[in-house]
Amino acid sequence: MTASKAPVPEAGPSAAAAARIEALRRQIEHHNYRYYVLDDPEVSDAEFDVLMRELQKLEDEHPELVSTDSPTQRVGGAPAAGFATVRHRLPMLSLANGFDVDEIHDFDRRVRERLAKQTGDPARSEAAVTYMAEPKLDGLAISLIYENGRLVQAATRGDGETGEDVTANVRTVRPIPLHLGDRFTDDAPQVLEVRGEVFMRRADFERLNAGLEAEGQRGFMNPRNAAAGSLRQLDPQVTARRPLSFFAYSVGFVEGGTLPDTQSGTLDWLRELGFPACPEREVLEGVEACLDYYERLAARRAGLDYEIDGIVYKVDALADQQALGFVSRAPRWAIAHKFPAEERTTTLRNVEFRVGRTGALTPVARLEPVLVGGVMVSNATLHNMDEIARKDVRIGDRVIVRRAGDVIPEVVGRAGGERPADTRAIEMPVSCPECDSHIERPEGEAVARCTGGLVCPAQRRESLKHFVSRRAMDIEGFGEKIIEQLADGGIVQSPADLFALDAERLEALERVGPKLAANLVNALEQARETTLARFIFALGIREVGEVTARNLATYYGDLDALMQADAEALQEVPDVGPIVAEHIANFFAEPHNRDVIQALRDAGVHWPDPPRPQAAEPGDAAPLAGNTYVLTGSFDTMTRDEAKAALEARGAKITGSVSKKTTAVIAGADPGSKVTKAESLDIPILGPDDLAQLLA
Ligand code: IVH
Repeated sequence: MTASKAPVPEAGPSAAAAARIEALRRQIEHHNYRYYVLDDPEVSDAEFDVLMRELQKLEDEHPELVSTDSPTQRVGGAPAAGFATVRHRLPMLSLANGFDVDEIHDFDRRVRERLAKQTGDPARSEAAVTYMAEPKLDGLAISLIYENGRLVQAATRGDGETGEDVTANVRTVRPIPLHLGDRFTDDAPQVLEVRGEVFMRRADFERLNAGLEAEGQRGFMNPRNAAAGSLRQLDPQVTARRPLSFFAYSVGFVEGGTLPDTQSGTLDWLRELGFPACPEREVLEGVEACLDYYERLAARRAGLDYEIDGIVYKVDALADQQALGFVSRAPRWAIAHKFPAEERTTTLRNVEFRVGRTGALTPVARLEPVLVGGVMVSNATLHNMDEIARKDVRIGDRVIVRRAGDVIPEVVGRAGGERPADTRAIEMPVSCPECDSHIERPEGEAVARCTGGLVCPAQRRESLKHFVSRRAMDIEGFGEKIIEQLADGGIVQSPADLFALDAERLEALERVGPKLAANLVNALEQARETTLARFIFALGIREVGEVTARNLATYYGDLDALMQADAEALQEVPDVGPIVAEHIANFFAEPHNRDVIQALRDAGVHWPDPPRPQAAEPGDAAPLAGNTYVLTGSFDTMTRDEAKAALEARGAKITGSVSKKTTAVIAGADPGSKVTKAESLDIPILGPDDLAQLLA
């Protein structure tokens, strides 16, 4: 008997119940396995539900027999206050990337040469290597620890050394077995770490977003964000409602038992144990077979029901993997062959100008709809008039459209071949398409702007969207549709008006029921308590991003001091140059803006008085005091250690891993997973130029 079995009392009615519970759990697990791993269910959903209901009923009657690995526990327990940190027993590595065929040939040559050297067999430098290839999934890595066949811990990758304990959430992910049941045999390791990717299938993602938006919530940007956001939920019951998938890709730490001696054999074995693995995986002889696999998968990419961003090739023999070893956090025996950004040719039908929050006009291409990387694209950005001139694009042209990962699709340029006869030039409108105000394009600037300010409905609408957004005031539930109705209907003129909304007013909006209205009122109530940094950012001052907002908040400590500062004084703040200082001073000089700020304070918006960091006095030698940065990747102008020393000399704290306390991640070339981590925590990511500014 394995330790996992529910305790069986000597006799009596609950002995029978315990036995039945045990039998039901094994049956349910078996059907889960048939469904998620073999993709070959034996029973209908309805029959499965009957088993689940019987188990639930018995457990309700015998609460002493409930255990954490019961299938009934997949609905999720109580919310947590935070995630505990878990140190990985073996570091979770990342993968080197290859972007073209030459880089893959180089990788293969290095593998052969090193194997020849390490094994002392010169023939190996010529012999074809056996690889296992599989898609690189666009999700997040997870470590699952099983003790005697029971899931005891699940952790995110984190920085590779330590991750976050997400066990309660992972228990709700149905394709991940809670208990290996009869598949856990005597020769299986007592402690087994399975690693793999948690991801969201495209169809599940579409359904989830449609549901969220129907509730007035913001949808996720893409399946990867949806998967990460769902797994890193403090409330496991929310995770339980999110349709997450899982594919195992390797074994980490093990204790006891015997394991297969190849990568491919390991995956087959994991599958027998109850873990889903990617069905596309293949064992291939030599690099040319890998490149052929890559082409085959690339051709099918759009048709897969999950997103992939490349192919991973791994040396199949584990002994060879061992011989090859690692270099700087990545194994020498594996490489990710990334797909290029997808590009397609289509016709540019028209160009419209979108007015942003600051009045900036962006030319948006209206395209003959075209499928790019599995997504139908009918709009793409043309950036600005200079770009249009540089690319020599005209309405009616055949153009190349590109879509890569998260970014907005863009028109890369004109397609080759002769220009159609009836094209016409793209012209900047003389007045705002939304409010008819005059359009201005300052000398030397690429961007043209509507001068309408808050008279312009587009600017009002976009400012409100910014104000409520996650990184600003984070007023949950105020999605685009709701803001548009509020702004366009004249119900909300300025951000302060939001706080005057009551349930009755909100219920009058389209697609807002009593429950959502109550949630919205509650969200407003909660948002009244904020931080100075969020508040400054939410104001939407030109060029004042999150980092500048935080720096301003840290430097001044209170809003009145900031509002009184002139442009010269503002330049003392880290990261604030003459132009930004001018924007800030102008913003606070504007009576309308001062009125809005007063109205917000009157509406009860408040923030704690932060203890003013001592070092943040004007002219002080420690202008970055109170800020914590994480450095990743490499910088042209200095080593990471030099950057660290320079930042520390200015009072900043540098840490090795990203947490909620991190002010920003500073990423150079080839950044590591810290960027992903920062994204998942909504922490700003700065580039080399920002670093230079911070140090200036
Ligand atoms: S193997 C030592 N296989 O890519 C190799 N990783 O850059 C470690 N990933 O954090 C990972 N699909 O989240 C491997 N088929 C796959 C993968 C995969 C996606 C991710 C994983 C990892 C990152 C490494």
